[in-house]
Amino acid sequence: MFSNVRITAATPRAIKEASSIIRRGGLVAFPTETVYGLGADVFNVEAVARIFEVKNRPRFDPLIVHISDTSSIGMLTSSINEKVEKLIEKFFPGPLTLVLPKSEIVPEIVTAGLPTVAIRMPSHPVALALIKRAKRPIAAPSANPFGYLSPTTAEHVEKQIGEGIDMILDGGRCPIGIESTVVEITREDAFILRHGGLTVAEIEEVIGDVKIYSGNRRRPHSPGQLPYHYSPRTTIKVLRKKERKEILEEKRKRAGLLAFKCPEEREEILYYGYEIVEILSPDGDLKEAAANLFACLHRLDKAMVDIIYVEPVPEVGLGNAIMERLYKAEERSRYKNKEYLNRPQC
Ligand code: TXA
Ligand code: MG
Repeated sequence: MFSNVRITAATPRAIKEASSIIRRGGLVAFPTETVYGLGADVFNVEAVARIFEVKNRPRFDPLIVHISDTSSIGMLTSSINEKVEKLIEKFFPGPLTLVLPKSEIVPEIVTAGLPTVAIRMPSHPVALALIKRAKRPIAAPSANPFGYLSPTTAEHVEKQIGEGIDMILDGGRCPIGIESTVVEITREDAFILRHGGLTVAEIEEVIGDVKIYSGNRRRPHSPGQLPYHYSPRTTIKVLRKKERKEILEEKRKRAGLLAFKCPEEREEILYYGYEIVEILSPDGDLKEAAANLFACLHRLDKAMVDIIYVEPVPEVGLGNAIMERLYKAEERSRYKNKEYLNRPQC
């Protein structure tokens, strides 16, 4: 139905065109404040099926339903309690996804057969305008092949999945740069299923204590909890405290470094000898580091080094979300390397 994908500046006219593509069952990549999403009409099961194909995403991994108005929440979920109301009031629109009991009208393919639905109202003006014009909620995962780095620019989307989709709306760099925090609310409790752009402390300020989900890693409650994810193609290794000096000082070949901040003078030497060094935030600001995370990893991956070493960031606030992604990327490397070692030699 549609010709080659175009990156199109997100003007009002382009947004109008994008909304009519969605209404006709096409796929549009669009910016949100977290990462770029790949959207389809939530009620069009064929269009949603195409999202899974383009991303090579397993059908057991459900999608987030994006809305532009809190009045749509009632039709998507069968129950809202006080905690949910408070979170909606405070954080919609914003980098929060709520997992709630689903209503009948949400197609099974969207929720991967689960009795719950993930709902998010992005704050990015382009995303909001697109959903509003489409006059229906938009089902959208991050616009990357399954398991790979999330896109924070229109170019990232084009390079990764450009051929399979109908339009890319370019709204510039995503300001938050990591995905939304996913919170499941059951009758009494709130569980963090994925760390993200909203910190646990910010959520707890509004609804009190939350639980961090640490369930069965093989059969995760939220498929994003698979131990490997968010991964560049290059092998990645997070430097544990003790290793840091040893590895950084040894003679290294074709290695890249993802550093948290600019080195202090006495540590400068530890940054020498790499093919490429990416610094998440020169002054060590976690918000800036989160915003730069995927773009830095994309550049490191493109540099074709043999290994990317990662200097950990402090695991507080947004640092939790950053490290969750880096550990999963590392886990993925381990898994890939094991696969490689097990292959018959010929
Ligand atoms: O910031 C974001 O959340 C971005 C932008 C585009 O909105 N979207 C995004 O979608 O990251 P995706 O599909 O890449 O990640 C959604 C996560 C997955 O880990 C998925 O398993 C989980 O949300 N999820 C979706 N529906 C769920 C449900 N009903 N129960 C548990 N987890 C769910
Ligand atoms: Mg994703």
